[in-house]
Amino acid sequence: MADGGVGRNLVYVAQAGRRALSARLQALGWKVQAAPDGKGVLRIVQRQAGQPFAALLDLREGFTEQDLATFGPALAAGNVGWLAGVSAEQLDQPAVRRLIRDYCYDYITLPCPENVLDTVIGHAHGMARLACGWAERRAGTALDGIIGASPAMQTLGRVLGKAAMTEAPVFIAGETGTGKELAAQALHRQSRRKDLPFVAINCGAIPHSLIQSELFGYERGAFTGAQQRKLGRIEMANGGTLFLDEIGDLPMESQAALLRFLQEGAFERLGGHDTIRVDVRVVSATHHDLEAAIAKGTFRADLYHRLCVLRLQQPPLRERGGDIDLLAAHALTCYSAEGQRAIKGFAPCARQALHVYPWPGNVRELINRVRQAVVMSDGRLITAADLGLQAPSSVDPPTLDEARAQATRGTIEAALRRHRGRLVDAARDLDISRVTLYRLMQRHGLQADDSDGATQAALPLHPGGRRASDEAAAFDARAGRMGPPASRRLLSVA
Ligand SMILES: Nc1ncnc2c1ncn2[C@@H]1O[C@H](COP(=O)(O)OP(=O)(O)OP(=O)(O)O)[C@@H](O)[C@H]1O
Ligand SMILES: [Mg+2]
Repeated sequence: MADGGVGRNLVYVAQAGRRALSARLQALGWKVQAAPDGKGVLRIVQRQAGQPFAALLDLREGFTEQDLATFGPALAAGNVGWLAGVSAEQLDQPAVRRLIRDYCYDYITLPCPENVLDTVIGHAHGMARLACGWAERRAGTALDGIIGASPAMQTLGRVLGKAAMTEAPVFIAGETGTGKELAAQALHRQSRRKDLPFVAINCGAIPHSLIQSELFGYERGAFTGAQQRKLGRIEMANGGTLFLDEIGDLPMESQAALLRFLQEGAFERLGGHDTIRVDVRVVSATHHDLEAAIAKGTFRADLYHRLCVLRLQQPPLRERGGDIDLLAAHALTCYSAEGQRAIKGFAPCARQALHVYPWPGNVRELINRVRQAVVMSDGRLITAADLGLQAPSSVDPPTLDEARAQATRGTIEAALRRHRGRLVDAARDLDISRVTLYRLMQRHGLQADDSDGATQAALPLHPGGRRASDEAAAFDARAGRMGPPASRRLLSVA
């Protein structure tokens, strides 16, 4: 084992008897296993599922288009970084170009010098390591059951961990289905209250006339039908966490009662005279725009400020990049048993469609679509149609503006990748100032990725000389106003 405990695993894909490179690759220190086809690759990489692999597909070695068509599931394996080895003439073949573009991190024109071969394979292996690292983090406790490795979700995880250490009320904002309830549960589990109750009340699902009795409870005889004392959710949560879900739907008269409880830490049951003191940590959430509700006069500003001492922002799914693949794979694992046949993964058209669709229902919608696709799919790979999504090839062609925006975004992304997120260097490559690069990134919804610390070091200083860290930007501790989504905040400090 080398390389920080991760083996230099390489699958060399070439037909038996035509494995010209095997010995050279071994001499370069790669632990080479040979496979004649996609099935062979899958057998190897599934035997060591948590391990990263580079896979070199030697296209000079006589694969037909039909052979390549069987590679789908192997090409989709999460722990493999694919490379194509080609002869210079093969780059003119559309099938080869398509395969490289859709599945490979890079290609090498063979023959080539040893050091080039080693470096390019090393890059593909490094990318597979990153993917495996994501999987480890996904399974670990950092995000506590919340799947996601995008910069936005990593920031959210860090902020959530910090918020869990305090007792201050937390308000979780975000579109429907982004995981607000999941975040509230994670917050509770990471707090000192984790062994005491987590009690949720959905303010939008309870008839207005019953909300106060649900929240505060009542004494026997408080109203017709109150035959015995009933404890309210606030009292049930004593010692633990009270999650006020869909707080934006709380009617005005209940808002006043809740505000009084938050100010005094005490309340009376309906029909009762005793003052009851409880120790609860309040977490609230809504998909409504509370600032707009305050402006309209349907939500009390004073209550909002009481609830929203710390603010978490759940990013919409469309801003989470590769998390879409992680979540889709997770949903497939969860529901694969419900289908008629063993499904191996997602077809290329489905993968593309997952990234083009804007996901108005966010993670909930993604999970539901994958679940439905598992049942509807007739093949081994889920297609865009199984997901009920338009295959990208049948999507309307882009307008000139869209094409321009796509090209700008792609060029910036490539420059950032080349410089591992270092804005100064990327800006120099692009021949623009760093400020212009920031503006363009903001306009195109790109995030400054601090995964290797490089971008963070390049963050601008506040006028006072302090650097705005991502936590500081996302952790809107005095949330008197609704801020921009967490994923954009890093940029908004510029
Ligand atoms: N990051 C995630 N990882 C895994 N599952 C997730 C994630 N985010 C959301 N989910 C799942 O998606 C579904 C919706 O999540 P949740 O109920 O927490 O969303 P919400 O923001 O509260 O939605 P709403 O505003 O509609 O109440 C749940 O099944 C939840 O388990
Ligand atoms: Mg919810």
